[in-house]
Amino acid sequence: MSRNGNVIAGLDIGSSQAVIVIGKRNLNTGGLKVLGAGRAPCRGLKGGVVVNISESKLAIARAAEEAETQSKETIQNLLVGIRGSHVETYNHRGAITISRTDKEITAEDVENVITTAKAIQLSSDREIIHTVPQDFSVDKQSGVEDPVGMEGSHLAVDVHVAVASSSHLNNIVKAINASGFTCDDIINGVFAVGDCVVSDEEKELGVALIDLGGQTSNLVIYADGSIRYTKELPIGGELITKDISYGLKTSFTTAQALKENHGTAMNSLLSGNESLEFLAVDGRTLRQVSRKTLVEIIQSRIEEIFELLGEELQKSNYAEVIPGGIVLTGGTSKLPGIDRAAEEIFGMNVHLGAPIDVEGPAEILGDPIYATAVGLLKYRHVGEWSKSHGSLGAPSVIRKFRQWLDEVM
Ligand SMILES: Nc1ncnc2c1ncn2[C@@H]1O[C@H](COP(=O)(O)OP(=O)(O)OP(=O)(O)O)[C@@H](O)[C@H]1O
Ligand SMILES: [Mg+2]
Repeated sequence: MSRNGNVIAGLDIGSSQAVIVIGKRNLNTGGLKVLGAGRAPCRGLKGGVVVNISESKLAIARAAEEAETQSKETIQNLLVGIRGSHVETYNHRGAITISRTDKEITAEDVENVITTAKAIQLSSDREIIHTVPQDFSVDKQSGVEDPVGMEGSHLAVDVHVAVASSSHLNNIVKAINASGFTCDDIINGVFAVGDCVVSDEEKELGVALIDLGGQTSNLVIYADGSIRYTKELPIGGELITKDISYGLKTSFTTAQALKENHGTAMNSLLSGNESLEFLAVDGRTLRQVSRKTLVEIIQSRIEEIFELLGEELQKSNYAEVIPGGIVLTGGTSKLPGIDRAAEEIFGMNVHLGAPIDVEGPAEILGDPIYATAVGLLKYRHVGEWSKSHGSLGAPSVIRKFRQWLDEVM
């Protein structure tokens, strides 16, 4: 942890940037208080995988410096949120027989049944990073929330398991160590953001979370109080930026600034049609584009992204069990009108996610770019994830290996 044991730091290392948020437990209220945040562009990762350790190291160090200055705290240990196509999730079932005469289910039985549910065939380069219990059943009675103390002879559990590539995880730890920090734990970033911006009531009712990032979009479905389905697609805000860059023949940086400063998700939301000036790809020639043209480019890509996510939602077979509609987060959800565009395409209620039960500066809590890192703090603050939060952590042997890696680096 930090020198002040009460302080926690979360690192969300995405494809576009490294984001670090620092927070601590409010000793008066017992709640989580965010103190400061920092972020830095990161070209060291592609699709959640480290492709350049020194670039990643620089981005982590820069983000940490900014977050430490803002929060006036010093950190050493980072709780890390990962993502990428190397992270896969499965639903799996495990069952045990309770043969003792009293038949009262103990915490140890629960641990054992979860261990059996985690027994999935993995290649040598893959490891389980989370096991989220979804439902327990006792003597075929499903929907049991906490079986400890109940009587029964057959205990079963359905779990949602997240599996990741060991070598990619180790490269992330190496980049963290190279930037002078140690790695507290590795969390699936998608679980962390969901836990931060989706309420327990929404999870119970059934809701889909869509995290619109830079290179990726993630779909997470909650129903009956627990996570049911997760899917990452290799599409995100950078595609919009590239479309603008090709369409207007300008650099990626200029295209991104046009999108972020003047973009909206839908043309119908524009009242005027002012002319925007920008530099052509040569960096010297001044060009003009109408805002309507810019938004047309954005709108057609946003429609495509939502249509692809809609297909995934249908494929998941959960589209009919999410009366809570859709919660949007991630940097691309900052496009004005994105909730309206999603409502039109999905035909469901859509709202923008915001961290729940967290105190702190509005500039951080109100900005979806920080939501995953805030979610990481919440994970540590709440401690062991519950059924809906869900992580029983990495197996201890992996944790030990990472600690060893931390020590030798
Ligand atoms: N105000 C804004 N309007 C529109 N898009 C924005 C705005 N601010 C940021 N973005 C876009 O959000 C994207 C980055 O989002 P985010 O920070 O969630 O991504 P990431 O976590 O780094 O990437 P990934 O989730 O794909 O790994 C970029 O494409 C960026 O241009
Ligand atoms: Mg992200």
